[in-house]
Amino acid sequence: MGGGLIQAIGTAAIVTAVISVMDGTTNAGAMLATVILVWKALGPIMGIYNSLAKFKTIQSSTAQINALMSLDDDKSSIEKSPPIRQFDGQISVNGLVHRYPGAATGLTNLSFKIAPGSKVAISGPAGSGKTTLLMLLTGLEPRYQGSILLDGHNIKQFNSFRYRKGINYIPFDLHLYEGSIESNYILHNGVISREQMSQSFALLGLDKVFPEGLGTMIGADFLANLPSGLMQRLRLAIGLADTSQNIIVIDEPLVGVESEHVTYINQLFAGTLRHKTVIFTTVDPALISSSTFCLLLEKDGSQKYFGAPDKVMNAMGQH
Ligand SMILES: Nc1ncnc2c1ncn2[C@@H]1O[C@H](COP(=O)(O)OP(=O)(O)O)[C@@H](O)[C@H]1O
Ligand SMILES: [Mg+2]
Repeated sequence: MGGGLIQAIGTAAIVTAVISVMDGTTNAGAMLATVILVWKALGPIMGIYNSLAKFKTIQSSTAQINALMSLDDDKSSIEKSPPIRQFDGQISVNGLVHRYPGAATGLTNLSFKIAPGSKVAISGPAGSGKTTLLMLLTGLEPRYQGSILLDGHNIKQFNSFRYRKGINYIPFDLHLYEGSIESNYILHNGVISREQMSQSFALLGLDKVFPEGLGTMIGADFLANLPSGLMQRLRLAIGLADTSQNIIVIDEPLVGVESEHVTYINQLFAGTLRHKTVIFTTVDPALISSSTFCLLLEKDGSQKYFGAPDKVMNAMGQH
């Protein structure tokens, strides 16, 4: 529009000059001089106008960069997250679908509801997606379809760092470092009191096994010779030491361990974990019978059953 105005001024100058010549108020030489001068004067104005347009482009780019820089990142959404350590632990999964890139099958259309304080066993054949489901629930795998609600909030709303801190996830391969058992507690739990360490140590019956208690040094040799049952109990003791979270997720607790070890789980479920929502994967019928609900997955990752564990026990031929 500014360009048009300048053209109009230039044209008006020519028209005025031509009319003046025709009127005889001025001569042809003066007309040419006027036209040249007017166009000379308009040149820089045109230049300013052109840079104005560039200035507008710069302004909108700056606005875009500012908008980009103020996008909600993990840090800025921290303040918006609800206080997740106070979660009741009610979980609602709706139409959950997950595929690893390139995989033809995977978790398909899972829907179930977990009341606070439930003990939920996730079972199914190897490769059916039990561990993957735990990763979805704990926010470690954010790519899925469907929704996971915790106390009515879609878990995608939560700041991921704080959400993960609000859930105690004990992975299958919890790593033990060379050093004392106490230092392993601290490495896995951060700030933790001696009472909390001793309590979980005793709850898993480890105080009777290790005379040197929390000061017992564990090294590669020690771990290689440790019976599987003890190893699994040590993993649980370290993983369960921090009791601040209301949601506990355990991948294959006490796997490959003689069934009498299940009493530790039953004692925990009836004791310190009584009010906590505990979700764990297992293929052990003894552990399934310790649960309040069982989710059974098909080999292809679809949902076979969700409900009371006795039906699963019956189907497995257990009573
Ligand atoms: N990171 C991954 N990338 C691709 N495929 C995976 C990955 N992790 C597991 N899988 C595959 O997904 C399926 C489910 O695995 P997983 O959740 O570990 O099952 P489960 O714990 O029931 O044995 C398996 O076929 C497995 O090979
Ligand atoms: Mg697994």
